[in-house]
Amino acid sequence: MVLQFTHQVVPVFAARIACVLTAWLFMAAAVAQQINAGPYVPSPESVVADMLKVAGIGPTDFVIDLGSGDGRIVLTAAKVYGAQGFGVEIQDHLVKLSNEAARKEGLADRVKFVKQDLFKTDISQATVLTMYLLPNTVNMLSEKLQKELRPGTRIISHDYGLTGWIPEETRQFDLQDKIKISGVPTTIIFLYVVPAKVAGAWSSSLPSSQQRLQLELTQQVNKLGGTAKVGAREFTIEDAKIIGDLVTFRVPVERGKPLSFSGRVKGSAIEGTVETGGVRSPWSAALAAK
Ligand SMILES: C[S@@+](CC[C@H](N)C(=O)[O-])C[C@H]1O[C@@H](n2cnc3c(N)ncnc32)[C@H](O)[C@@H]1O
Repeated sequence: MVLQFTHQVVPVFAARIACVLTAWLFMAAAVAQQINAGPYVPSPESVVADMLKVAGIGPTDFVIDLGSGDGRIVLTAAKVYGAQGFGVEIQDHLVKLSNEAARKEGLADRVKFVKQDLFKTDISQATVLTMYLLPNTVNMLSEKLQKELRPGTRIISHDYGLTGWIPEETRQFDLQDKIKISGVPTTIIFLYVVPAKVAGAWSSSLPSSQQRLQLELTQQVNKLGGTAKVGAREFTIEDAKIIGDLVTFRVPVERGKPLSFSGRVKGSAIEGTVETGGVRSPWSAALAAK
């Protein structure tokens, strides 16, 4: 059939070309937006084993590996520890390879791998999140991790740390296998625990005297500080820490006899104990304002 370019056909044809061009432009823009978080470089098997050990992984965990490569981290978590999870990866052939390995090893009911941009992946289901990505992309994820992950979720990063986060554990060792990957044998595994958000004013009282205790907590990721007002006296709180939903700090009300607080954050309350001079009493605080 010969296509006739009549005065009716030409506008229809031009409109179709315009549609195709627009679609191409959208696709090109989408591809351009996808950030390459790192080339495919598998973590050596011994590092995978250490990452999972540092995470303290178990059968109730749900592991998400961002940029899952051949799937080795999630597959090992399922095979050795009975965990569940998924990996996200942008390279099609690696996703296929990982799903094939899961099927062959009889793990497909517990783990899966999806072709997806890690920056656009919902990670809220994770109890353990792993990554081996470029240092700048690890840091680009910082806000997403704080926003989407639940308090207590463990983050394990191979070689590159999260700026502004205090690691709960850092394991550093030399591994000959790493020389061909990064030119040096140095290997670092960082463990972080996602903190609850506690910045703000909390009101409470001291169990012994029923004196009013007002806390003003400041927080930058998992760096905690602040002040405590006991009656008219104000103190800078000491040794403040937040690990997941566990808050601990000391108030130096009396020299050599500080009040040591420890409590779990439950929504807008903290429930725990206060200890001084070897005596421990129940203690709680309520969020007054953020
Ligand atoms: C260094 S490899 C780590 C592989 C695996 N996690 C491991 O430790 O063995 C990083 C992986 O991230 C993938 N990747 C890079 N950018 C990505 C993105 N935006 N979304 C999903 N995967 C990405 C790469 O294709 C690569 O396979």
